[in-house]
Amino acid sequence: MRNTESLEETPGVVVPAAMSATDLLRVTLLRTDFHARLPQQRRVYEAARSAILQQQLEAGRKLPSSRDLAAALGIARNTVIAAFKQLTAEGYVISASGSGTYVADMLPNDAVAFDAGAQMAPNLSRQHTTHGAALSRRGAQVAAFSAGAHFEIQPFAPGDPDFSTFPLKLWQRLQNRVWRNARPDLLDYGKAGGLLPLRQAISDYLRTSRSVKVSAEQVMITAGTQQSLDLCAQLLADAGDTVWVENPCYWAARRIFESRDLTLHPVAVDQAGMAPNAADIATRPRLIYVTPSHQYPTGAVMTLTRRTKLLDIAVNKAAWILEDDYDSEFRYSGRPLASLQGLDVHDRVVYMGTFSKILYPGIKLGYLIVPPALIEPFKIALYDLQRPGQLMVQAALAEFLELGHFTTHIRKTRQLYGERRELLRTTLTSQLDAGFTISQEESGLHLVVELPDHIDDEQLACLAAEAGIAVKALSTYYLRPPQRRGLLVGYAYVSPEKITHYGQLLANVIRTAASR
Ligand SMILES: Cc1ncc(COP(=O)(O)O)c(C=O)c1O
Repeated sequence: MRNTESLEETPGVVVPAAMSATDLLRVTLLRTDFHARLPQQRRVYEAARSAILQQQLEAGRKLPSSRDLAAALGIARNTVIAAFKQLTAEGYVISASGSGTYVADMLPNDAVAFDAGAQMAPNLSRQHTTHGAALSRRGAQVAAFSAGAHFEIQPFAPGDPDFSTFPLKLWQRLQNRVWRNARPDLLDYGKAGGLLPLRQAISDYLRTSRSVKVSAEQVMITAGTQQSLDLCAQLLADAGDTVWVENPCYWAARRIFESRDLTLHPVAVDQAGMAPNAADIATRPRLIYVTPSHQYPTGAVMTLTRRTKLLDIAVNKAAWILEDDYDSEFRYSGRPLASLQGLDVHDRVVYMGTFSKILYPGIKLGYLIVPPALIEPFKIALYDLQRPGQLMVQAALAEFLELGHFTTHIRKTRQLYGERRELLRTTLTSQLDAGFTISQEESGLHLVVELPDHIDDEQLACLAAEAGIAVKALSTYYLRPPQRRGLLVGYAYVSPEKITHYGQLLANVIRTAASR
């Protein structure tokens, strides 16, 4: 069993503290996202270069021979030789004929440039001084941690919708029509919170399907949830203010709040959603970030009692509730859940949604529904801080909604994902014994396999990655220490054949780890 102490909290990545050079490069290259598009030779070069720049491979350290490294990585020796050649040419390593290849003790001049490929184990203070000329302390903090780019579009990557189902031809027709009739003002920046027809279509949709209390005026079109959260953090809180976050929490929301110098206060989550206790209530939250329809990542649905309690707290504390309703369209049985915002009679809730999950992530469009008193400040901030655009895409999307294609697409994908969910659950249940609980709720794009406490879920996620499976460890979503261990398993993007194949493989990996 590998040593997994220390180094990193990046979800899904475990980097042992003291590693051989071969293992260090092996672990880096196992990360499917690590320069995924580059040829193997370039990936080996990047892995070594990154380790040298971060001083994980220190000056004078001997690298493994090209033959040994090639064998350990399961790649051609020529690939390793070519990577070493490049490292030598750029001065990162020195080849001493007959005795091997060593890390150079004089780093080349460009070594101080920010190592954008490096995502593992950066030493924050060193990073800050090494790149001191370029990065602020906040910048160094932001750059020192990367959780997002892992495992995209791999079997079981949680959160990915199946965007191959997106009706491309229809979208093309709508886009063509918009471009044929393009008015010059649609080529300008987006003013007034976004294109009015889209804001109207969104407000109609939310009123009927999500019981949101909304007029088109209250809708701000943003570049997705990240931008919506960032605007809220900028406009509704000051540096040092406290934000309650669910524990475990959506990592990207955490990243935004941290980057705006807010103080995170983790509040436990149980079967009924965020569960503030007396100690939590004694704090003074300025923001309360919640995913009440489908808690991310546990899947809990917030009960009515909890919703009412949270609204009361927000009123008493003059706090804003940020309701992230990111995937509630994917509810496979029963009626759609009403929003928390719909219960709010004191205008304390800012509601946000996204088109990333229903259409495709790269569309980068989402929306904020703000209480009437916040309309003007948010409009001003959206325009002055973000200079939004893409009105042509907004126009096509407005038609997509108005003509009913949006609800048709939701129906179609809901049916598809529901079947995939069932298949995954059946596959896993048939392979795992009762010691493993698989989440039962009927919604979302992933399910959670809960693990007994003695199983290290981060290590398990790494083992699964070696088998080509991109699950995420539940414990990495906690502000430490983790309370539960498990794996987040996404199914929406995975074809039924792959669900069966990789589901059995995953169950096998879990069983093997449990029996150790
Ligand atoms: C909890 C949660 N909120 C929001 C989003 C979507 O964010 P965006 O609109 O920035 O793509 C995701 C995507 O994974 C998510 O998991």
